[in-house]
Amino acid sequence: MDIAAFRKRFPALVDSDSPAYLDNACMTLRPDSVIASINQYYSLNPSCGGRSVHRWGLSVSQTVARTRKKMASHIGAENPSEIIFTPNATHSINQVAHGINWREGDVVITSDREHNSNLVPWLKLAELGVELRTVKSHDDNTFDIENFENICAEVGNKLRMVSLVHVGNLDGVEIPVKTASKIAHDHGAIVHIDGAQSVPHLPVDITDIGCDLLSFCIHKMLGPTGMGVLWGKEHILSELEPICAGGGTVTDADKSGYSLKEIPSRLEGGLGHYAGISGTEAALDFLSNYDMQKFAEQEIRINNIISEGIKNLPNVEIIGPESARERGGICSILLDGIDVQNAGILLDEMDSVFVRSGLHCVNQWFNDKGIEQGSLRASAYAYNNDEDAKRFVDSFSEIIETLSR
Ligand SMILES: Cc1ncc(COP(=O)(O)O)c(C=O)c1O
Repeated sequence: MDIAAFRKRFPALVDSDSPAYLDNACMTLRPDSVIASINQYYSLNPSCGGRSVHRWGLSVSQTVARTRKKMASHIGAENPSEIIFTPNATHSINQVAHGINWREGDVVITSDREHNSNLVPWLKLAELGVELRTVKSHDDNTFDIENFENICAEVGNKLRMVSLVHVGNLDGVEIPVKTASKIAHDHGAIVHIDGAQSVPHLPVDITDIGCDLLSFCIHKMLGPTGMGVLWGKEHILSELEPICAGGGTVTDADKSGYSLKEIPSRLEGGLGHYAGISGTEAALDFLSNYDMQKFAEQEIRINNIISEGIKNLPNVEIIGPESARERGGICSILLDGIDVQNAGILLDEMDSVFVRSGLHCVNQWFNDKGIEQGSLRASAYAYNNDEDAKRFVDSFSEIIETLSR
């Protein structure tokens, strides 16, 4: 990849004093075309889709339909109606968790490295008598497929749902979701994948994975905030009870009841985020010019420079496998006796290096280990260059060496 040319498309990176932006697992930056498309929506056709029949309204409806089609094609789905636009991945997962007609005694299986968004919605189902089981990972945080298969067998016909993170935001470790989906299906479960950290960084094809449902968000894949996606097989989505019903979701309603529209409308209650959908289309158009596998390789390359540069420092431990290749673009670092928040602030103050410090919404994992302060996480995207990685290594090394004295 020509990283220098690629970077020029991102206004936040072009100034000589721009940061070494390594907080991409939280949110990526936006290319010029995404910013322009959001501006264009508000200045040229600031209207609503699926309702008004004037020119502006029709233009927005067309944008929504095109974006749905492009999104379907981006993840290998054939039917654009299976793409539901949501505000974020958390909303998508909640729509699944609270849309299914549960039976008392049903069991959901997740892993022990889930983001709170793929944990709390399932925990909330305890009030309906639904039990959550978690699969303990290997000591290096890789997925224990044998343990998973044993739990599926143990649960037997009570198993209703398997919901796994594809790539963890804690450590960048990828779960073998294709094998896990096959095992889960053999045990009769519905398979939901949290793709918040995979769809933005890897080629993701729902047919290849073999899952039934996939949730992710657009702010981690060059697009606007306030946009998420729930993809699901038509027959599953069509049976989900909307968690947000009302305007746009019904064919008819009166004092005695209502009838729901077909997907996607039945699951997209209220006026849509049309500026966000316009920005999403621009992000998909931008991404369609690149090979996602090349993005993944570039992120591993950056992670490798970071990991090799800091791994022998005192009081420092990288979470997950030693090889950066097994952690994608994420280097998540435990600090012994050094405050992670202070280290994060110092990185910015010393050399404008932007990272994330804390629990990264993976409280479960840190609680299991008894680590209160969390970790310091550097996470790459394809626009990060060697210079960004070296800035991180130099500043971080200086901080650790000074604070370890
Ligand atoms: C793995 C994972 N799942 C879910 C989420 C939640 O995404 P959102 O903020 O779009 O709800 C995140 C966000 O960081 C994440 O990394």
